[in-house]
Amino acid sequence: MLRITEVGRSTLRSTPKKYGSFHLLTRNLSASDESRRSIHTVGTIGQGLMGHGITQIAASSPHISSVIAYDPSGQAALEAGKSRILKSLDKMMQREKITSDDAEGVLGKIVFTDDIAALGNIEGPDIVIEAIIEDLGIKQKLYGELDGICPPTTIFASNTSSLSVESMSTAVSDSRKENFVGLHFFNPVQLMKLVEVIRAPASGDAAVDAVMQFCEDVGRKAVQCKDTPGFVVNRLLVPAVVQAMEMLDREDVLGGVPDIDACMQLGAGHPMGPFHLADYIGLDTTKFILDGWIESYPDNPSFTMPACLVKKVKSGHLGRKSGQGFYHWDGDKRGDPVKG
Ligand code: CAA
Ligand code: NAD
Repeated sequence: MLRITEVGRSTLRSTPKKYGSFHLLTRNLSASDESRRSIHTVGTIGQGLMGHGITQIAASSPHISSVIAYDPSGQAALEAGKSRILKSLDKMMQREKITSDDAEGVLGKIVFTDDIAALGNIEGPDIVIEAIIEDLGIKQKLYGELDGICPPTTIFASNTSSLSVESMSTAVSDSRKENFVGLHFFNPVQLMKLVEVIRAPASGDAAVDAVMQFCEDVGRKAVQCKDTPGFVVNRLLVPAVVQAMEMLDREDVLGGVPDIDACMQLGAGHPMGPFHLADYIGLDTTKFILDGWIESYPDNPSFTMPACLVKKVKSGHLGRKSGQGFYHWDGDKRGDPVKG
């Protein structure tokens, strides 16, 4: 088992002035505040684009005492997740949103591990939040294993973008089903303030209440949703991205990718155009979402597969995470559109 303190402190810079927007880390709490809360310890599974952010914001909350950050893909995936967290904390320090003591406090709560048994620790965790690849079979296999490892009271929460929470929960014992919910964070987790809380038919009130409180504790606005494909945001956003890709396939717009993106940024006020956004989400994840929906809802005309998306994923061009998608990327910095 590795602690982040073994690898990361040297990259944290000098102590800046404290800044109000990081109040979550420093707010004083009374004992009665704390006794009402049931989630104090967190496990996160998968330290990719989403998981590392969830680990970071959980560890940044004064209500959370520890975060066990696990990745099934092993050490390389853990190192990548850790370095993303360090980069984000560094950015916040440079912008004087947190001090180096704050950053050390966050890092000191996180234990990184590639051993799933760490999630069966006798003291918890109160919740595990899963953010692994968007594949129903792989998620079900993980939940089956976790069910035998975690205490019976641990809440299981999936960050799935599109899968049915009820289908994932078929992998766990009947008694766990009331403690199984969806908890859908948005990318980038550090900046996006919404979480969709998904209540499957068997999800219990106590688990839903606890995760609603958890969302408040990590500074997020929570909205409860039914277990429908894409919940609210992705049901609206992903079909719009698909339409943009189909325009590209049909060559509807002379200027292609940058012009379609400019239309939605400048004409509709979106912070990112649809191709920029798809690169940001990950083209593999976008395709996983559509694969699942097309299989489950073949007659829904909103769920179709654009040829350009299939071509990009086939060539390993997955967007920001692989350095190229519809745009070139230099780390987190977007470059020019890819020609052709
Ligand atoms: N950690 C900490 N701070 C960060 C950060 C990080 N990872 N990334 C950026 N920041 C900080 C920057 O330092 C900057 O700070 P200052 O204001 O002090 O300068 C601030 O955040 C804003 O950053 P930028 O100037 O780089 O970015 P921006 O103003 O262009 O906004 C954005 C970035 C919030 C991502 C914005 O472009 C946006 O809202 N894009 C749309 C994102 C979106 O739609 N997400 C949802 C995707 S769909 C999804 O998530 C669901 C799914 O299941 C697929
Ligand atoms: P990512 O590709 O960045 O990370 C994938 C994670 O899955 C990694 O931790 C990796 O180690 C793990 N993984 C890969 N193959 C695996 C396997 N065979 N078995 C077990 N684990 C495996 O993906 P991400 O963008 O962080 O997405 C993770 C989850 O969050 C998905 O369910 C996705 O739909 C959801 N989500 C994604 C976004 C987004 O914008 N990318 C937003 C909200 C929710």
